[in-house]
Amino acid sequence: MNEKAIAEIGKQVAGRRIVVAVTGGIAAYKACELVSTLVKLGAEVRVAMTPNATQFVGAATFRALSGHPVACDMFAEPQSDEIAHVSLAEFAELIAVVPATANLLGKVAAGICDDFVTTIICAGRGPVLVAPAMNWRMWENPIVQRNCQTLAELGYHIVAPEIGRLADGEEGWGRLAGLETILAAIVQALEEPGTGG
Ligand SMILES: Cc1cc2nc3c(=O)[nH]c(=O)nc-3n(C[C@H](O)[C@H](O)[C@H](O)COP(=O)(O)O)c2cc1C
Repeated sequence: MNEKAIAEIGKQVAGRRIVVAVTGGIAAYKACELVSTLVKLGAEVRVAMTPNATQFVGAATFRALSGHPVACDMFAEPQSDEIAHVSLAEFAELIAVVPATANLLGKVAAGICDDFVTTIICAGRGPVLVAPAMNWRMWENPIVQRNCQTLAELGYHIVAPEIGRLADGEEGWGRLAGLETILAAIVQALEEPGTGG
């Protein structure tokens, strides 16, 4: 990645409180590099995961990369330095859902809050960025497109997926946007109003 661009992004994210929310798609591993980069750039990063995301990357990896406990189980007894869901929503200047599954898009568009990630999105008042990633058949599904449209109309920042080779070996739209694109979108979203009421 272009070092000058990264340095410029660093100036914008240093000290900002960002929650990276990871959902259960094959691109979850790419969120590791995002968290690692944001931490290196001086952002205050916390990670929330859906239970399904932990099937793809272990919470221990994000705990190590962020230096903080990972929020995943809404009903777990909080550890001393762990933040409950409402506090995490208050902590977040920005929630960045990377990657965002088709399931997550549908749940948020419908106002469903049945796990830590969807609940902090509902409770948050800052901007929310979602970076969908999925097989092209899912991405082209009209319901998924409609859910994205709904979220965009409500002020969510959608970082559109790219065309390319997908994890399952197929070619098409649905590949998670590149790290640099997501970082640039985070910088932009940090300057914009939130999605909450
Ligand atoms: C191997 C595997 C890969 C998957 N990859 C994706 C994906 O890239 N995008 C997606 O939307 N769903 C994907 N799914 C389906 C999601 O895991 C499933 O919809 C799940 O309910 C998402 O849960 P969450 O949104 O709560 O994390 C995949 C499932 C499996 C088993």
